[in-house]
Amino acid sequence: MVKASAPGKLMLFGEHIAVYGKPCIVTAVNHRMSVSIEKRNDEKIIVNAPEVHVKNYKISVNELNNQYPKEVSFVLTAVKNFFDKYNCRSGLDIETHSEFSSKFGFGSSSAVTVSTLKALSELFDISMSNNELFNISYKTVMDVQKVSSGFDVASAIFGGTIFFAKKGEIIEKMNIKETPLIVGYTGVKADTPTLIKKVSGMLEREPKKINAVFNKIENIVIEAKDNIKNSNWAGVGQFMNENQQYLKMLDVSSPELDKLISASNKGGAYGSKLSGAGGGDCMIALASEDKSSLVSEAIKKAGGIIIPVETNVEGVRIER
Ligand code: MEV
Repeated sequence: MVKASAPGKLMLFGEHIAVYGKPCIVTAVNHRMSVSIEKRNDEKIIVNAPEVHVKNYKISVNELNNQYPKEVSFVLTAVKNFFDKYNCRSGLDIETHSEFSSKFGFGSSSAVTVSTLKALSELFDISMSNNELFNISYKTVMDVQKVSSGFDVASAIFGGTIFFAKKGEIIEKMNIKETPLIVGYTGVKADTPTLIKKVSGMLEREPKKINAVFNKIENIVIEAKDNIKNSNWAGVGQFMNENQQYLKMLDVSSPELDKLISASNKGGAYGSKLSGAGGGDCMIALASEDKSSLVSEAIKKAGGIIIPVETNVEGVRIER
């Protein structure tokens, strides 16, 4: 039996523009997703995924055809892509385990995809560089989801905090210390593909205006990168506020997010913004140590749920 695990992620800067190849900054968080895989002596693939209520889902190797229930689609598409690329086949027992709920928007799909492929490479003794793992994982996510910049796949593989651009052509590890980040969950599930479509619709209707917003966000990402590297959290917070204003122009914030963000800033945060596709999921705030509990209280009072996270954690690994 082989077990691999990969971290969830939080987007710090650059959501939505990343879909168009522009840069973003993402940090890996200490909520992990793991996948255990064992070979079987027959041709059956049996998946157990308790966190999404999948119990003994059975399919034969011959039936791997990219049409699966959505709860098992990332795992089985990963298996099919792996078998096709490396010319192998076997029955498998697969079990997934998540330390976080898929509703937070921490990237459970990419973490499960990366963990599955890492475990398969170990099980079939196929050596894969991180870049090869990125390519097959990103292909898998695109096969299922059709749209994605791949930043969440890169974060699950490389961990730490990365500057990501051109859909993975540029992946730069940023050497930073733990970020003083506070995460507030809105209680509302975001629908990433719908929000991506909304922004692409706006881009089609008003290309000049939306491209100008994209360029402003791109400049923020680049400036924020230096401030993060230098742990200038007051500066980073300022850029978070600016990024949030431009995300509002893209109409991807929500009343719940706005409420938590405004409460957090009034509570003394350096800055706050939504993280991820928007429409719900989580907001993030940066606060100095002495303001941290005031900011958390303010977010809670505004209806948010604080999710404790450690940032900048290790990427995919085999669990021994
Ligand atoms: C979603 O977490 C972030 C988006 O930029 C989508 C992506 O980059 O794949 C909206």
